[in-house]
Amino acid sequence: MTDANAIRRLADAARAARAGAYAPYSKFHVGAAVLLDTGVIMAGANVENASYGLTCCAERVAMFAARTQHPQASMIALAVSCGADDFVHTGNHTRMPCGACRQVMVEFMTPDAPIWIDGVGARTLSELLPTPFKL
Ligand code: THU
Repeated sequence: MTDANAIRRLADAARAARAGAYAPYSKFHVGAAVLLDTGVIMAGANVENASYGLTCCAERVAMFAARTQHPQASMIALAVSCGADDFVHTGNHTRMPCGACRQVMVEFMTPDAPIWIDGVGARTLSELLPTPFKL
């Protein structure tokens, strides 16, 4: 299911999802998309709050939507885009998923799941978070 074509579709969905970002404080518009084993793609964008700590990242919005709307499906890949072209001066670190989102990915995806990052490429989840917290 995660052939090059599927990843391309997922990347397009993540880029498109940036349009839905609510980021009046950081102006950092992030989109994410999760591919389910059913072929369905669930997208999300970051949602900020005047009480900054309440902000939710795009990846978690997408994963929570996937889990709550398709509870029987498995998440097999995720793509994230913060508009790679906007960040040529700040380096790749600004494009990477945050640590909290990596831990949530571990909750729902297998270690070999491809995580595609705009401007960087694909990494496996275990490359992004080799030593997650587990119960
Ligand atoms: N953000 C994401 O959506 N995903 C990440 O992985 C890192 C950061 C958002 C949160 C906040 O709205 C903005 O980017 C700046 O931190």
